[in-house]
Amino acid sequence: MRTLILAASLLASTASAGTFITIGADAVPAATAAAERDHAAMKIVANDGDVAVLDIDDNELANLSEQMHAQFHRCGGFMIHDSLAEALSPIQPLATRVEYSLDHAAAVTSVLSTLDAERLAGTIRELSAMPNRYYKSAAGAEASNWLAERWRSFATRPGVTVQLVDHGYPQKSVVLTIPGTTRADEVIVLGGHLDSIAMGGISSNAPGADDDASGIATLTEIARGLLAADYRPERTIKLIAYEAEEVGLRGSQAIVKDFQRAQTNVVGALQLDMTNFKGSDKDIWLMKDFTSADQNAFLVKLIDTYTGATYGFDACGYACSDHASWTKAGVPASMPFESRSKQMNKHIHTGRDTIAQSNNEASHALKFAKLGAAYAIELGKGSLGKGSLGGDRDQDHHDIPWQLVALGLLAAGSIAVSRRTIG
Ligand code: BES
Ligand code: ZN
Repeated sequence: MRTLILAASLLASTASAGTFITIGADAVPAATAAAERDHAAMKIVANDGDVAVLDIDDNELANLSEQMHAQFHRCGGFMIHDSLAEALSPIQPLATRVEYSLDHAAAVTSVLSTLDAERLAGTIRELSAMPNRYYKSAAGAEASNWLAERWRSFATRPGVTVQLVDHGYPQKSVVLTIPGTTRADEVIVLGGHLDSIAMGGISSNAPGADDDASGIATLTEIARGLLAADYRPERTIKLIAYEAEEVGLRGSQAIVKDFQRAQTNVVGALQLDMTNFKGSDKDIWLMKDFTSADQNAFLVKLIDTYTGATYGFDACGYACSDHASWTKAGVPASMPFESRSKQMNKHIHTGRDTIAQSNNEASHALKFAKLGAAYAIELGKGSLGKGSLGGDRDQDHHDIPWQLVALGLLAAGSIAVSRRTIG
């Protein structure tokens, strides 16, 4: 757990310069120099050597973002907070709240066999054909409606809902809920960000095919696969397309706050942000920072057992996407990423972030769709509905001889964990 020490300067001062942000401590000298150059008000409120809290003039945020990009290759690289208290609130310890086990092989393999790279590529093409998905633009708002309609088309049974969540900007977050049967109060979140960004703001050309139409299309294919199989989880599953990630994780922070207010028990969160650019030798890279080591170990089991993909570990080095909002709230979160961060897609946040950079296909993202669907089913438990491929209630316990189930369990291993770590 991190504790930030309040600087004497803040205790003595009264007025705020503008907005409270948290930023990597290594970037503080660059931020200070930029603010001095621009004659912008800025105060270092706290710095624990790892993370710093700055109070900075609103008008300086765009310049700071540019500096972070030029000097640190971070595209923003800071988190925006509504209040000083929030910026200072220490990162919560992650309590492991669930036992991770692999015992729903029949349901997982049945759903995974229906996931399709061509459909996934089609969704990336449709999203990236929009002029941009900027959180303040009309096109960004339209993207929310478009996605809600697409997800609604999968919601063929009563109880499954799709909602638009308003955070005060034109773009809305989109939430698809598959209610749990017996443990509905335990919630699993699979998310990605709907917004895109490039120079030019609301009138920019920001296709964001990889960042993050790929993640949203991956979620979309997972939703289609789960619902087409009439999957009925024991725990509640929510698929969330966050608005406004690119401008300080705003959408996910607002969603997390809503969940905290409602005292919702979120037992796990998976973030899919950039899934379709294979920049490295291994397929799936698990980010070790701002994530749960225990849940990451569960993902490793899922990758090995179900996806046929290879994996490695890497780090962002800062709160690079919406998983950090969940981690901050104490929820075990993971961020499986498309490449080593050093070998990332260099075209993100420009008009060149198109599916052409991924050979006009989505075989890489399909691996993440398989991982996400396996995560949803093995954490959500439950069963596929009657009439679906190999589907009957409790098929894992009835359709397969118990000896095979036992063998499968032995092979897959059953992870029971009691402690947590922040990477
Ligand atoms: N998809 C990126 C995050 C990313 C980029 C992760 C490259 C790993 C490698 C995300 O949309 C993004 O741009 N995040 C911002 C930070 C955010 C807090 C504004 C960034 O990376 O600077
Ligand atoms: Zn981005």
